[in-house]
Amino acid sequence: MKLLIINGPNLNMLGIREKNLYGARDYKALCEYLVNEGNRLGVEVELYQSNHEGCIVDRIQEAYQNIDGIVINPGAYTHTSVAILDALKAVSIPTCEVHLTDVNAREEFRKISYIRLACDKTYAGFGFDGYRMAMEYLVETYGK
Ligand code: DQA
Repeated sequence: MKLLIINGPNLNMLGIREKNLYGARDYKALCEYLVNEGNRLGVEVELYQSNHEGCIVDRIQEAYQNIDGIVINPGAYTHTSVAILDALKAVSIPTCEVHLTDVNAREEFRKISYIRLACDKTYAGFGFDGYRMAMEYLVETYGK
């Protein structure tokens, strides 16, 4: 099984951006965590981060017939991007949405997620663990 883990805008700034919300660990630490979890679960993991909506759309399209599950933290595009939603619907690869913070307990605009409409599950407010939970769900549900 091959999982693609997509992180959207500003997630490369982890460890620098709003540490009170997103924690002190940086994006490199997140990547190491994701690779370790992939090894533990016995699945291949591909990591992708971009600050650009169209690049994320391109990466999702490239995943068609190559990737068995997607874990995506779309960052701020969560709340705005019909294009990313449509790309996920187009490839119809099992997908989970992850947010480090509990988006439902923050500003009103963060409660809206276009991406969720193409996702099996959403994990929000669990920090790095949310990615693990999403990976475990995809492995358990869609096999190795
Ligand atoms: C985020 C939540 C979004 O609202 C925000 O724009 C982000 C990060 C999270 O992981 O909690 O960039 O997706």
